[in-house]
Amino acid sequence: MEKAPQVLPYRIEPWREHLDATAFSSGMERIDRYIKEQTKRDLSSHVSLVFVLTELDSNIIRGFYSLSALGIVFNDLPKSVQKRLPRYPQVGATLLGRLGLDLAYKAKLLEDLGENPRLGEFLVIDAQKRALEGATGTVGSALMVIDVLMPTEEEQAAGVRDPMTFYTEYGFLPFPDDDRRVFKPIRTIEQEYGEA
Ligand SMILES: CC(C)(COP(=O)(O)OP(=O)(O)OC[C@H]1O[C@@H](n2cnc3c(N)ncnc32)[C@H](O)[C@@H]1OP(=O)(O)O)[C@@H](O)C(=O)NCCC(=O)NCCS
Repeated sequence: MEKAPQVLPYRIEPWREHLDATAFSSGMERIDRYIKEQTKRDLSSHVSLVFVLTELDSNIIRGFYSLSALGIVFNDLPKSVQKRLPRYPQVGATLLGRLGLDLAYKAKLLEDLGENPRLGEFLVIDAQKRALEGATGTVGSALMVIDVLMPTEEEQAAGVRDPMTFYTEYGFLPFPDDDRRVFKPIRTIEQEYGEA
């Protein structure tokens, strides 16, 4: 008998005013400040869109990411990517600006389920899907780009890891002259979804 598809008890939806981020803590102050204090401003000025992860029956924000439009200077791209694109001075891209998960919630799920719920993975996969939908359905965009934040020394001392390998594990590659900025061609995401 075929296995029924697993229904996740979470959803990822656009940020709304009544959602609650008061207790949100990812271990990185810049990420926490963004969801608590800067999201509303960025949304009202259309700088970014913010998508939040909640349990189906709760309004507490357990994770989130933001997406916005970005222009990348053609010559900043690796030669291997340049070869596959028309030579405009700038290339449209989709920026994953901020992403984070509430640590206490992850710890609670680890304890309750006895295994890692992989919610960070759930967020990054959802972000790629939305970037692909936008790029193929609304505004052209050739790349998904992430500026990978480095935890401060204090945060590292408290156990927060540099998230760089989190992104490279999902196929994001560093820019030649900026090793904190990573990208994945939308075409690659499209192929990954085609294969899924
Ligand atoms: C980065 C973050 C979203 C990952 O969430 P998560 O739920 O712990 O991630 P997952 O459990 O889905 O992890 C998927 C894989 O990435 C690895 N990983 C998770 N966090 C990582 C990190 N900070 N650094 C390196 N690898 C990491 C996991 O070990 C796992 O690897 P595996 O496939 O070998 O088991 C979360 O740790 C977080 O919010 N960190 C603080 C904020 C932050 O760094 N945001 C990114 C700023 S650009």
